Amino acid sequence: MFQELAFQKCISPACGATYGVDEVRVACGRCGDLLDVEYDWDRLQPPDSLRYFEQWWGQRRVPTRFSGVWRFHELLPYASTESLVTVGEGQTLLQQSDGVGAYIGLKSGRLHLEYEGMNPSGSFKDNGMSAAFTHARLTGASRAACASTGNTSASLAMYSAVTRLMKAVIFIGSGKISYGKLSQALEYGALTVQIEGDFDDAMARVQEVSRDLGIYLVNSVNPFRLEGQKTIMFRVLEALNWEPPDWIVVPGGNLGNSSAFGKAFAELFKLGLISRVPRLAVINASGADTLYELVTRRGLRWNRGRIDKQLIADYYRELDERHKKASTIASAIEINRPVNLRKCVRALEVCDGVVRQVTDQDILDAKAQVGAGGFGCEPASAASVAGAKQLVREGVIGPDERVVCVLTGHQLKDPTATVAYHTTDEEHFKKVLGSRGVERAAFANHAVAVPNDLNQIIQAIEQHG
Ligand code: F0G
Repeated sequence: MFQELAFQKCISPACGATYGVDEVRVACGRCGDLLDVEYDWDRLQPPDSLRYFEQWWGQRRVPTRFSGVWRFHELLPYASTESLVTVGEGQTLLQQSDGVGAYIGLKSGRLHLEYEGMNPSGSFKDNGMSAAFTHARLTGASRAACASTGNTSASLAMYSAVTRLMKAVIFIGSGKISYGKLSQALEYGALTVQIEGDFDDAMARVQEVSRDLGIYLVNSVNPFRLEGQKTIMFRVLEALNWEPPDWIVVPGGNLGNSSAFGKAFAELFKLGLISRVPRLAVINASGADTLYELVTRRGLRWNRGRIDKQLIADYYRELDERHKKASTIASAIEINRPVNLRKCVRALEVCDGVVRQVTDQDILDAKAQVGAGGFGCEPASAASVAGAKQLVREGVIGPDERVVCVLTGHQLKDPTATVAYHTTDEEHFKKVLGSRGVERAAFANHAVAVPNDLNQIIQAIEQHG
C-alpha cells in the first residue's frame, strides 16, 4: 500500500520525472537533477493535527514508536511498518539555554538548542540513516557506501553493525576526519577506504564506485536520507508544544539538513499542520563557504526551479582554477561542493532564509560557550550559534525572537579542537589552531598544574576555586 502512494520525483519543475520508491536512484534519469520523495497525500490521509503524534508517547516499548524518527512515520510514509529499521535514534533534547542565549544577544527564554549529538552514533546522521536503511531493505541491497567527513561514516558503520542488513564501505579523505569519528568506523567494522584527497574528492569517487559496483549509496544525495532528517524539525515542534519558532539556525556542509528542514516545513504547511513557516539561517564556515558565496554574494535563487546553473558552474571553475580546497577547523563541514546545493536554495525560498559565514575563531568561541552551558557540541555544530550571534548583531534576528540552533554532533566527536582551545601550552595552541587564524581563546578554561604536594594542591584550589 505504502509503496503505491509514495514515489520519487525530480526536483526540477521543468522535468518532473517520477520513479517508484523501489528504485535505487540518486539523480533523475532524464535530466540528472536531484530527487525528492513525494507522497499522494490525498489518498494517504495524514493526521489533521500534530497532536495526533502524542498518542505514541505511551508506546515506548514498541521500537518504532520509541524511535524519534518513526514515531512520525505518517509524515514519511514510503515503507510499511514491518520494514522500518531503527536502532533507537532520535531521543534528542531541545534545551532552553539562557546562558548561550545571552552570548548570542537574545533575551531570556528565547534560545533553544537542539542536541542531535545525543543520537546513538553521536550525530544527527542517525535520523537519515534509519530512513536510508529502511529504503535499502525494500530494495534488497547487501552493501552500502558513503563518502564522509566522519559522522555519516560513523552512522553507517553503526547501523551496519547493529542491524547486519548491509556491509558498510566508507570513503574518507586522508587525514581529514577527527579521531573520535574514525575510531567509530573502525571499531564498528566498516571497510574504511582512505582516499588521497578531501571530502569533495571522496564524494565524487564514491558515486562512481557505487554506480559501477551496484552499492547502495547513503550520502544525502539519497532522497530517503532526507526524509529521516525531516523529523529533527518534527521533534523541535513537539518540544515547543507544536508552535513553530521564529528561526531555525543550522550549519551548512553538504546541505542535507537545510534541504530536509525546508521540505519538512513546506509539507507541514501544505497539509495545514502548521500555520507559519519559521525562517531558516544556514551557516557556512568561512573556509568552506560555497553556499554563502553563491546565495549571499552572487544572488543565486530558486527562481521557481529555473536555477542559474551557469552561476554555479562558473564558481566551481573558479575554485578549480585557484586550486581552492575547503579548509576549516569544523572538519564536518569542510566541503566546497555541497551535493544538495539546489535543494537547499529551494529551502531558502520556502523559509525566507539567509546564509552567513563564520570564522574558525567565531566557531570555537561559540563552541566553548555551548560547552559551558552543558552537554557541548563539536566544532561544526557551533557554527549555528556563531551564525545566530552574527545575525542578532546585524539586526536580522531580533533579541525577542524565538531561535532554535541545531547542534548537529556530540562534543566528544572532536576532542582535539577542544583540548587545543583550552590548553595552556602556547605551542600546541599555535600548532593546532594558529594555522586556522584562531588567535585567542576568550573562553578558555585552563587546567592548573601543581606539584604532587598536599599543601600546594590545597593552595591552588583555594586560589582558583
Ligand atoms: N554538522 C555535523 C556534525 C556534520 O557531520 C555535518 C555533515 C554537518 C553539520 C553538515 O550537515 O551536510 O546536512 O549540511 N557531515 C557529513 C558527514 C558531510 O560526512 O558526516 P549537512
